[in-house]
Amino acid sequence: MNASTPLTALQVMQDSPVIPVIVLNDVAHAVPMARALLAGGIRMLEVTLRTPQALACIEAIAREVPEAVVGAGTVRSAADAQAAANAGARFAVSPGYTSAVGQACRDARLALLPGVASSSEIMMACEDGFSELKFFPAVQAGGVGMLKAWAGPFFDVKFCPTGGITLQNAPDFLALGNVVCVGGSWLVPANVPELGDWGRVTRLAMETQVLRK
Ligand code: 3PG
Repeated sequence: MNASTPLTALQVMQDSPVIPVIVLNDVAHAVPMARALLAGGIRMLEVTLRTPQALACIEAIAREVPEAVVGAGTVRSAADAQAAANAGARFAVSPGYTSAVGQACRDARLALLPGVASSSEIMMACEDGFSELKFFPAVQAGGVGMLKAWAGPFFDVKFCPTGGITLQNAPDFLALGNVVCVGGSWLVPANVPELGDWGRVTRLAMETQVLRK
């Protein structure tokens, strides 16, 4: 995927069954983490803007691991979106939706997966032209039942459920017609970077390939 060509949200969702939600506390961990996920067959990487080092991590991955496609998670403001794009992010994921975030991502040519947890939020995102959405927090906000209920009125909307997803419950979500992929933090256990156990990340990523639709 040519880094100069903007991605669509659907391309981000269709690349693999799971988008890893990554929290990095040290820029030195960014490149080995990205390489470990790539070795396991996952190249769409959501690095969350939850730590002071997150933007530097995105920059390092964008620069040093061109085979990966790095995005920013936890984008909560227009400024976050702009900073993520400046750091080299190719897509953005937000926990909720505001028109300001939507517009900032358009301006920065960042594909956006906006977070929604209610019908009104879906309608607001759709009004602004976003119909590929993150359902967050998926398990806590109604899970599979909620997605089935939304399939009626929102027949043209596609979801990436995130929040409470595991390797075990992912197949129930991926079996739904309105789910393209899921997101989850389980691929990057909190202690892996400190232990340098990148092989574990690769194994966890490889396990997700059985989830392919
Ligand atoms: C997110 O930010 O998308 C969630 O924290 C991921 O949820 P999980 O940790 O339950 O996978």
